[in-house]
This record gives sequence, C-alpha cells and structure tokens, in this order.
Amino acid sequence: MNIEKIISEKDFQLGIFSANCSGGFAATKIPERWPATWDDNVRLAQLADEVGIDFLLPISRWIGYGGETDFHGSVLEPISWASGLLALTKRINVFSTVNTAFTHPVVVAKQLATADQIGHGRAGINIVAGWNQPEYETFGIDLPSDHNDRYALAQEWWDVVSKIWISQERFDYDGKFYKLQHVEGMPKPYRGTIPVLNAGSSSQGRGFATRNSNFVLTSVMGPEDGAEIVKTLTNLAKQKYQRNVGVFTISHVVCRQTRKEALDYLHYYAEENADWEAVDNLMRLQKLHAKSFTEEMLRTYRSRFAAGHGSIPLIGTPDEIANEIRKFHEAGFSGMTLAFVDYVSELEYFAQEVLPRLERMGIRLPRLLKQEI
Ligand SMILES: Cc1cc2nc3c(=O)[nH]c(=O)nc-3n(C[C@H](O)[C@H](O)[C@H](O)COP(=O)(O)O)c2cc1C
Repeated sequence: MNIEKIISEKDFQLGIFSANCSGGFAATKIPERWPATWDDNVRLAQLADEVGIDFLLPISRWIGYGGETDFHGSVLEPISWASGLLALTKRINVFSTVNTAFTHPVVVAKQLATADQIGHGRAGINIVAGWNQPEYETFGIDLPSDHNDRYALAQEWWDVVSKIWISQERFDYDGKFYKLQHVEGMPKPYRGTIPVLNAGSSSQGRGFATRNSNFVLTSVMGPEDGAEIVKTLTNLAKQKYQRNVGVFTISHVVCRQTRKEALDYLHYYAEENADWEAVDNLMRLQKLHAKSFTEEMLRTYRSRFAAGHGSIPLIGTPDEIANEIRKFHEAGFSGMTLAFVDYVSELEYFAQEVLPRLERMGIRLPRLLKQEI
C-alpha cells in the first residue's frame, strides 16, 4: 500500500475489519452470526483477494465482552491469522493488530518480518497502545491511567521494532520501559518496512498516530464531522511531523436489493436479537478507558454498537451505499473498513453490485484482479 500514491490518486481503499472475532462487528444472538472459524476466514480472505478488496484488518482481543453470546469470546490471534492468510492469498494486504503492552517488540519485529516474507511484502501493522482494563488484568499488568504513559511506552515499543528493521548492526536500547542489549533482527520485512495503522483518538493518541503511522483509523458520526477530523489529522501530520497520512473510518454494511429488505434485516439482527448485555459491556468499557468514541456517540449510539461496534451504518440498496461511500471520499477520507453479518455471502453481493458503482463514480481505480495477473 503506497500511501503517497493512494493520496495523490484519491483511490478509495476498502478493507474488511474484525472477521477474526466471533460476531465480527455485530453483537447479535441470531444463530447464523459470524463464528470466525479459520475456514470461514480463509474463504473470506480468498474472496476479498479475488474481488479487489485492498486489505484485511483483525481486532486484537484477549477476553470476550460477555452477554449471552460472549461477543468476541473466540478470536483468532492476529499475527498467526495474518501469516496463514498471507500464505493463502496473492494480492491483498493483511494487517496484524498488536498491543504494545502485551507483547515484546523484539518478538513482534521478527513475527511481522516473517509474516511479510510469507506474503512477499503484503503485511501491515495496526498498533494498539491499550485501553481495555479487564485485558490488562488478564495479563497481570496495570493500565496506565495517564494517556501520556500509555503512548510513551507505545513510542518506545515502536522505536525498537522499527529500529530492528532498519539496522544492519546490533544495537543497545536504553529507554524508560525497555533496556535491551545486542538487539538484532534478520530477516527484515520484504521491502524493509510495512504499512502502519493506528487508531489513537485522544490528543496523545492522535500525536502518536500522525507521527508514526501511514493511515490513521478513526470513528466518526458521519461525513460532516469526518471532514473536520480528516483536516485536523492531516494538518497535524504535515505541520508537526512533515508527513502525509491517510485517514480511514469504519463501517458496517447491510446491502440488499431494496431499502426495506436492508432495514428489516438490520432490525432483525441488531434490535430484535441484539445481545444487549454484550453491547452495554462494550460501551461501558469504551466510556471508561478509551477516547475512540465521543461522549455524544456513547450516549446515543446503542443501536449502532449492536449493529456494528459503533461504526458508520451503510444500510440500503447498492446505489444508496455507493452514494454514501462517495460522501466519505469527498470528505477527504482515504478509505474505510467494512463489516458484514455474514462476511462471505454479503461481500459477494457487495462486490458484484457496489464495487462497480464506485469505479464508475471514479472513486476507486479498477483493481488488477487475480485472474488478470
Ligand atoms: C478502528 C479502530 C480499531 C481499533 N482496533 C483495536 C483493537 O483491535 N484492539 C484494541 O484493543 N483496541 C483497538 N482500538 C482502540 C485504539 O487502538 C485506541 O486504544 C482507542 O481508539 C483509544 O484511543 P486513545 O488511546 O487515544 O484513548 C481500535 C480503535 C479503532 C477506532
């Protein structure tokens, strides 16, 4: 993923998010909810690869959110998941989501370099500086209450990983959190480094993201507030760090032939059959420890959390959804992630109906698909 090219060509990137987690993005009790088995993920990744989706992005989650379904109770570990999928796909980029506080940078540098060798340069990293208190308890460590400390550790962690990738010689590292001797790492990533995503939302988080990442992930209410956030983040990156960053947001999709069918299905899985206990647990933890969603979003978005983890709803006919995506493109976003209740069958329909519309609108360049390579 070439950030400069993506920005200059305004080629809207689409990724699939959260398919490694049971339920995906939908906290629902319907029996056909996404089980997130390995075989499902392989089918999805190969389909996404074939139809021209740009990237796959997993969630890093270590304990479920409870409720009747234990939403996100079964989660394929992101680096193992990405390595397997990179071996089984040809074109698509596959990110790993990694928690800085729960992993050692020397180990992760080698794991990701290995994954990138497997994928011949298609691995990426989504860096999570940490927010979910119960997970910290699982690991037996304290969640720093101060965002400065969370991001200071994340910065050292990333400095070590990236230094391993550029250093041709052994080095020592003397930081506040890491004191390391004779560090080395071979092989390097396939092209020396890999694309970086980050979803920090606090001022410290945004500082980290604009300083270190190629793409900043952010949750927004819609294209209007989104346009402001894109401006803020891209200006911060340019002015403070002389860098270009692309900004992505997150969505969930129910695309059907008619608007009524789409709305009925949304009602079925995310109202009638929502796992409200899991939804409330997720929202409570977000409110307590993260700044991913604003107060206003957390006050008013219970349904959006049931339907798609608080992300943008893309609900309706192929025309309506393509028009809605166009608004995010016009707002300056470089791309967005998609999630479906049944990722495989619904991606098939989305690819058939929505992707060609986006190409006709000139939002996405035609992809060089598998059969044409
Ligand atoms: C799109 C998106 C993806 C994220 N992915 C994960 C994840 O997989 N695991 C996780 O623990 N946190 C994840 N987060 C949380 C962020 O990494 C970050 O901790 C959160 O946005 C809080 O930001 P803050 O630290 O600036 O308060 C994600 C957030 C967003 C918006």
